[in-house]
Amino acid sequence: MPIGHNNRIYVMHGVNLDQIGRRDPAHYGGMTYLQLEQAIDAFAVELDVNARFYKSNHEGEFVEELHRVIDLADAAIINAGAWSHYSRAIGDALTFAGVPAVEVHLSDVMAREPWRQVSVLSDACVATISGKGVDGYREALVILKQKLGL
Ligand code: DQA
Repeated sequence: MPIGHNNRIYVMHGVNLDQIGRRDPAHYGGMTYLQLEQAIDAFAVELDVNARFYKSNHEGEFVEELHRVIDLADAAIINAGAWSHYSRAIGDALTFAGVPAVEVHLSDVMAREPWRQVSVLSDACVATISGKGVDGYREALVILKQKLGL
């Protein structure tokens, strides 16, 4: 599908996700961030939606990008890394971002340390997916495609 104003999905990665190639492969699968983006983009092509990517290790910049998301995209996938567990600032920004969002985690956060089992973002998201590795992003694209009526 050509890029339109109803099929743009913004895939937003937060703190330390750019380093997944160096992190525990038991949790993160051993791929690099670039490989992750390429895999998500391939899912988007298969599902006929447009994926755009953003990543930041700076919480304030991530919040400012959430302020802009309404002008940039029709829906969002958010993996905010450790911020997911404590950043009320990102949680607040998501509540008024103005587009539907799905929270994704590569690892199974509910089976890890107690602090990771809490999400301060999930209330602002239409779904939360964790522990499915890169396939979790495909599931998120499917949910958002449906939500957008595509
Ligand atoms: C993560 C899980 C978080 O607990 C962690 O801090 C991350 C990545 C995931 O994708 O599994 O950085 O969001």
